[in-house]
Amino acid sequence: MKYNTIAVIGLSWGDEGKGKITDFLAQKADTVVRYQGGNNAGHTVVCNGVKYKFKLVPSGAPLEKEIIIGNGCVIDPKVLLSELEDLLKLNKKINLKISSTAHVIFPFHRILDELEEKSKKDYAAGTTKRGIGPTYSDKAARWGLRIFDLIHPEILKQKLNKFSEIKKDIIKNFDSNWTMNIDEIYEEYNDYGKKLKPYIIDTAYYLNQEIDKGKKVIFEGAQGTLLGLDHGMYPFGTSSNSNALGISAGTGVPPKKIGPIVGIIKAYTSRVGGGPLVTELDNEISEKIRTQGKEFGTVTGRPRRIGWLDLFNIKYTIMINGVKDIVITLLDALEDIDSLKICFGYEIEGKVLESWPIQSELLEKCSPIYKTYKGWKRLSREEWSEVAKKGYNALPEEMKTYIEVIRDELKVNIAIISIGPSREDTIVLKDFF
Ligand code: GDP
Ligand code: IMO
Ligand code: MG
Repeated sequence: MKYNTIAVIGLSWGDEGKGKITDFLAQKADTVVRYQGGNNAGHTVVCNGVKYKFKLVPSGAPLEKEIIIGNGCVIDPKVLLSELEDLLKLNKKINLKISSTAHVIFPFHRILDELEEKSKKDYAAGTTKRGIGPTYSDKAARWGLRIFDLIHPEILKQKLNKFSEIKKDIIKNFDSNWTMNIDEIYEEYNDYGKKLKPYIIDTAYYLNQEIDKGKKVIFEGAQGTLLGLDHGMYPFGTSSNSNALGISAGTGVPPKKIGPIVGIIKAYTSRVGGGPLVTELDNEISEKIRTQGKEFGTVTGRPRRIGWLDLFNIKYTIMINGVKDIVITLLDALEDIDSLKICFGYEIEGKVLESWPIQSELLEKCSPIYKTYKGWKRLSREEWSEVAKKGYNALPEEMKTYIEVIRDELKVNIAIISIGPSREDTIVLKDFF
C-alpha cells in the first residue's frame, strides 16, 4: 500500500539514525517537516560523499526537497541562518517554510538552561544547553516570543523590553553579577527577522492544503520517544513530545491525515545525558561499540552511553506511537562481538514487570532479563556496501537471526535495514511512497 504522509520517529533515546532514514525516504517524497525540538537535535545525512549535520533544518535539504519548520519547534535564528548559509555554500537550492507561530530561542534562554541545570544537580538531564527547556517553559507560561514577533519590530521591542526585565531578575537569582543589553539583543534579532522574513508563513494552513492536494510529506521526529516530555523518562528527557503524538500539535495537521508511523531503532542502545539506563554497559564491549558506531554526540561531541538492545522499553514506545513498521540501523556497528545480549524484560527485587516502568525512581531499581545471541564477523566498509546492494539474503546468518528475534518479539514489520551511514547502505523491505 502507498501513502501520502509518513512519520519517522525515534523509538529510544535519540540518535537512532532518523536523519539518514528521513533522507532515504525523502527520495520519493515532496516535503519534510520538523514538528518539535530545536537545535538540540543533530541529524546526520551522508550522501554522495558529503556529510550533513542538521540541527534545525529538516533532512530533506540535501535532495532540495521542500522543507518546513513547524509551529511546535523552537528556533534559534542564528543557528538556522548559519545552517542555511552552509547549504548555499554547497550550491543547494533552499525551499524552506517556517511557521510564524514557532517560538524563538534568545540568549537568556541559553543562559537559563545552563544555570538551571547546575542548580538541579542529581536531577539534571545533561541538556544540550541550547536553551530548549527555558524556551518551551516560556511558551507554556505565555512569556514567549514567536517568529511572527521577529518580523514586527514594534512588537519585538515591546515584548523584549517587558519580558527581559523579568528574565533579568530571575537570572540574577542564580548569578548576581549577570547583565544583559536588551538594545543589543533587539538589534540582533530584528536583523534575523529581516533575513528570515521571506520564509515565514502559516505552515498549518499551507501543509493541510498541500496534503489535501496529494503532496507526499514526511514528518521527521527529533530526539526519541524515551526523551519525550509526557511519555518519556522525566525529568531526564527533553521538553517536547518527541513522539508521533506531537505531530498534530506541532504542525496543525490532524491525526487522521498522518500515515504510518515508522519507528527507528538502532541495533543496541545509546544515550546522551543523565538518568538510569537499565541495559548500560561500561566495559571493553561498550568501548568497541562506541568506536564502531562512532557514538559521539552530533551536537555536543559528548561520548554517548552504550547498552544492549532493550526490547522492553521499545515495546512501550511502539505502543505510544502506534508503530507497525520499524527500521533497524547500525547493525554493522555490532560486528566482531562474539555474543550479543538482548533485553526482553525487567525485574525489581525478583518480581518480573508487566510493562516498562516509566518512573525514573523505579527504573533505577530494575535489572534486565537477557537472552544471548551469536554475533557476526567484521566486514570492511566496502563489503557492507556490497551486502546492501545484494539485499536481505546476503546479510550474515547471525544478523538475520538477530533481526528476526526483534521482529517476532515486537510483532512488527521490518521495513528497512541499515548497515552503514550512507544512503546506499540501506536494504528496503517495504516501500511507503
Ligand atoms: P539521528 O539524531 O537519529 O538523526 O541520528 P544521528 O545522526 O545523531 O546519529 C546516528 C549516527 O549513525 C550518524 O553518525 C549516522 O551517520 C550514523 N548511521 C546511521 N545509520 C547507520 C548505520 O546503519 N550504520 C552506521 N555505521 N552508521 C549509521
Ligand atoms: P536527536 O534528534 C540524543 C537529550 C540531552 C538531555 C535531554 C534534554 O539528534 O536524536 P535538551 O537540550 O533537549 O533540554 O536536553 O535530552 N537530548 C538528546 N539526546 N539525541 C538528541 O537529538 C537529543 N536532544 C536532546 O542529552 O539528556
Ligand atoms: Mg542525533
